[in-house]
Amino acid sequence: MAEEYTPGYTRKASDFMAQRTAISHAAFLTPHLRNSARLLDCGCGPGSISCDLARILSSGQVTGIDREESQIELARNRASEQQLTNVTFKVGSIYELPFPDSSFDVVFAHAIFEHISSPDEALAEILRVLAPGGIVAIRSPDWGGFIVGPDVSGLQAAIKRYADLQNTNGGDVYVGRKLPRLLRDAGFDLLRFSATYDCSQSPSTISEVLALRLADMDADAVRAWSQDRDAFFAAAWCEILGTKIDR
Ligand SMILES: C[S@@+](CC[C@H](N)C(=O)[O-])C[C@H]1O[C@@H](n2cnc3c(N)ncnc32)[C@H](O)[C@@H]1O
Repeated sequence: MAEEYTPGYTRKASDFMAQRTAISHAAFLTPHLRNSARLLDCGCGPGSISCDLARILSSGQVTGIDREESQIELARNRASEQQLTNVTFKVGSIYELPFPDSSFDVVFAHAIFEHISSPDEALAEILRVLAPGGIVAIRSPDWGGFIVGPDVSGLQAAIKRYADLQNTNGGDVYVGRKLPRLLRDAGFDLLRFSATYDCSQSPSTISEVLALRLADMDADAVRAWSQDRDAFFAAAWCEILGTKIDR
């Protein structure tokens, strides 16, 4: 199936991703990291989480890949502004990771599985580049758990239309709950799964990212919601840790 990345690569969408930190979005993984680990971040986007992880892995090495050149450029600029010497970024597809077998101790994939049409192919590549005993760590939202209010006119229909668009583009807005089965089918052993809420303090930023991809009437509804002073948005994220057993 053809894939199209639904949020796109506008400045607003990239800035929205770049607010993410390892503390806010990778806390399910960080307690399991060894300082010297070689970590691959698949679909790193503008690289804010990758750079944080590079700081945590003080004697390790972080590699970020993304299929989009503009995101890799943003990530490289960020790493150089922060004077990080143990993180590199490369254009590449999760379906064809440009690395030899067993190159990494940890493979992290944040907010990418909900956008891809062949998660089984992506996981086969992750399994290949992961060293035996290594950890795979995946975090994706599941739209079944979103809490949004107040329910202004047209808001629910607009959210549904955005979800339908992402699914039509090859993604899966309900992939979060499917991660255990996907990992097990790919040959990983499951270590732990969990879910957390990300409660945005900036409804207008989210509404702009959604509005960019919606037709006028739906875009108006999400903007009207975001301007309500009681606007509330909490996204449910599913998190999973697995390992590659040395068989
Ligand atoms: C929602 S962003 C997440 C960025 C970052 N991981 C974060 O959470 O801030 C998803 C990223 O995955 C990338 N992506 C989508 N499909 C991809 C693929 N097949 N291979 C590599 N990257 C892909 C997109 O270009 C985008 O930058």
